[in-house]
Amino acid sequence: MVETIPSFGLGTFRVDAEKTAKAVTSALQLGYRHIDTAKYYNNEEAVGKGIRDSVVPREDIWITTKVWHDQLRRDDVVKSLVDSHKKLNIGTIDLALIHWPSPDSVVPIAESIAGFQDAQKQQLIRFFGVSNFTAPLLEEALNAPGGKGIVTNQFEISPFLANRKLVEATQKLGVKVTAYMPLGEGRAHKDPTLIAIAKKHGVTPAQVTFAWLLSRDIVVLSASTNPEHQELNWDSQKVKLDADDIKKIDALDEGRRNAKPPFAPKW
Ligand SMILES: NC(=O)c1ccc[n+]([C@@H]2O[C@H](COP(=O)([O-])OP(=O)(O)OC[C@H]3O[C@@H](n4cnc5c(N)ncnc54)[C@H](OP(=O)(O)O)[C@@H]3O)[C@@H](O)[C@H]2O)c1
Repeated sequence: MVETIPSFGLGTFRVDAEKTAKAVTSALQLGYRHIDTAKYYNNEEAVGKGIRDSVVPREDIWITTKVWHDQLRRDDVVKSLVDSHKKLNIGTIDLALIHWPSPDSVVPIAESIAGFQDAQKQQLIRFFGVSNFTAPLLEEALNAPGGKGIVTNQFEISPFLANRKLVEATQKLGVKVTAYMPLGEGRAHKDPTLIAIAKKHGVTPAQVTFAWLLSRDIVVLSASTNPEHQELNWDSQKVKLDADDIKKIDALDEGRRNAKPPFAPKW
């Protein structure tokens, strides 16, 4: 079993079920050992198929799923995870996250955590964590009974949304940061600063972006159904940026958020 979140994962948001299984199998073939899905993505069956179709042993793979924000009552958390467990059909799920905090904190965090602990006892999941939690919400979650079990806070980070305060607060609380939407919805490919740094190293702007995140001790999720992109993205782990590159990328931060659903917490 993998005991900590692998630092580079394949995302599957907005990837239709048909393409998902193939994308998962090809990523595993390339060396990826971490796949991120969610109940909300409606592709857990395909993710499970992609894992079963690969030659990589199940115990070498870390699989994360998420529970939607309208399923956060204790019994609903368990029901959602029973369903995810069934759809994935790969045995115990490695990690399950609260996808978004309960809007207006209607469901107390402690109640949801109790649901995740029930799911652990039933061997539906091994670890649990949160996503899109602000620093005060994360602190509240960590202080709830069982809250110390939280292993990650997954939220949006890109060169255009460095999210520095939340990254620092999360790391200070001893919780691993996981980044989603790292390419700023495609903007990274066209950014002149990232293009210049990429040229200097003979790599791509996407690879520079991922290397910058990894240099901040952040777990990266990148989504691609294209095996060539998957391979390039995976290889970004070999890219070494210098202090000048990092300074230039840090300066791109505009606090520009792409994920802005109406139920998001007050950032
Ligand atoms: N917790 C949350 O609320 C939340 C929210 C959003 C996302 N997530 C997770 O985080 C993952 C990553 O976010 P994201 O899906 O926005 O990922 P992303 O990697 O920033 O963007 C994915 C898009 O970039 C393209 N792409 C990837 N690598 C490329 C490359 N090397 N060259 C050119 N294009 C490339 C992909 O197209 P191709 O397929 O053509 O390569 C795809 O359209 C999601 O898939 C999901 O698992 C979580």
